[in-house]
Amino acid sequence: MERPCLSRRRALLLPAATAAGLGALAACAPEDEGYGTAAPLRAEDGTIPLDSVPENASTLVNFGGQQPFVLLVRGAGEELTGYSGYCTHNGCALRQEETELDCPCHGSRFDAGTGEVLVGPATRHLPEVPVVVEDGLVRRDV
Ligand code: FES
Repeated sequence: MERPCLSRRRALLLPAATAAGLGALAACAPEDEGYGTAAPLRAEDGTIPLDSVPENASTLVNFGGQQPFVLLVRGAGEELTGYSGYCTHNGCALRQEETELDCPCHGSRFDAGTGEVLVGPATRHLPEVPVVVEDGLVRRDV
């Protein structure tokens, strides 16, 4: 039986009545540290300077709030595409391993440049997350 996946941070927001079941969730998703080969960048106040996002690379960013992790794929200049940082199989937070995103829950892997599924059980590509650049700052466009 598969179990639901929540980040520890999200799990802490649940009512105390469900706390007893949280121990099983702790190993389900990576935390901010120890995140694959590159820790996610952390956005302050929901924005991150475009200059801190490497060009011609993929970078996980923690924008805070609900579903905080977004994969930013930056080309040259302000060419940016955002993808969800959560597995399409059962919602676990992904971790970046070089040019792929790995799911620690059941082993799915995604292309970190396109969001495409490389290895299941996930069958759906990572959905795009709208992002905008204003005054040199990147933020989610929600
Ligand atoms: S949640 Fe099952 S493979 Fe990611």
